[in-house]
Amino acid sequence: MTTSVADGIANEIAALLTSWLPSNDDPARPLMTLSTGTSSGYPDARTVLLSEYDERGFFFHTDSRSRKAADVTGDPRAALTLVWPGRQLVVQGDVSRADDAEELWAYRHRSRYLQLLAWLNTPAFAALPLAERLARWAEFDAEHPEGTLDPPPTWAGFVVRPVRLTFWEGRPDTASRRTEYRRTPTAWSRALLPG
Ligand SMILES: Cc1cc2nc3c(=O)[nH]c(=O)nc-3n(C[C@H](O)[C@H](O)[C@H](O)COP(=O)(O)O)c2cc1C
Repeated sequence: MTTSVADGIANEIAALLTSWLPSNDDPARPLMTLSTGTSSGYPDARTVLLSEYDERGFFFHTDSRSRKAADVTGDPRAALTLVWPGRQLVVQGDVSRADDAEELWAYRHRSRYLQLLAWLNTPAFAALPLAERLARWAEFDAEHPEGTLDPPPTWAGFVVRPVRLTFWEGRPDTASRRTEYRRTPTAWSRALLPG
């Protein structure tokens, strides 16, 4: 069954997201598989944190020199897959760069470890032997006390603005089912699909 009643569907999606996702201030961030198109034609995928979501879309943050950043710059379309026991949310959407204020907010809300990682996660660092990586990490940590670090220039946020959201729900007592929402030029539509 497909309906295209504009009124109410956007609110329905917002309510579902609120009940499925933790609030943006919750330090336990959900994991997502971020799938991208690549210049080779082979899709790529990797795990990222959902930094936050709101009416603009789903935000993730990364290093601007990363493959995923190159992918979404070359082809600004992506899919996100979030999975929990008995539930899956798949989002297809258009990707754009987050604004400076959002990028700063996300960096400030990262754990201390992830703030340090954003500075040190380079190919040169990865090539070092473990003893050196431990020593350089400890040195950088000591030189930059908690609360003094700004994001590195390579800190980059992206937002995936959904064109399709698919909520999958499994049940042990009957068949799983998907509720799928698509954004049309004028409204959202909803379809109920087999799981
Ligand atoms: C649990 C988990 C969470 C991760 N979160 C992020 C993240 O939020 N941002 C990020 O850039 N990489 C994150 N990574 C690392 C990526 O999965 C990936 O290895 C890295 O970003 C390089 O990806 P790319 O070469 O496709 O750009 C995470 C990895 C794991 C296992």
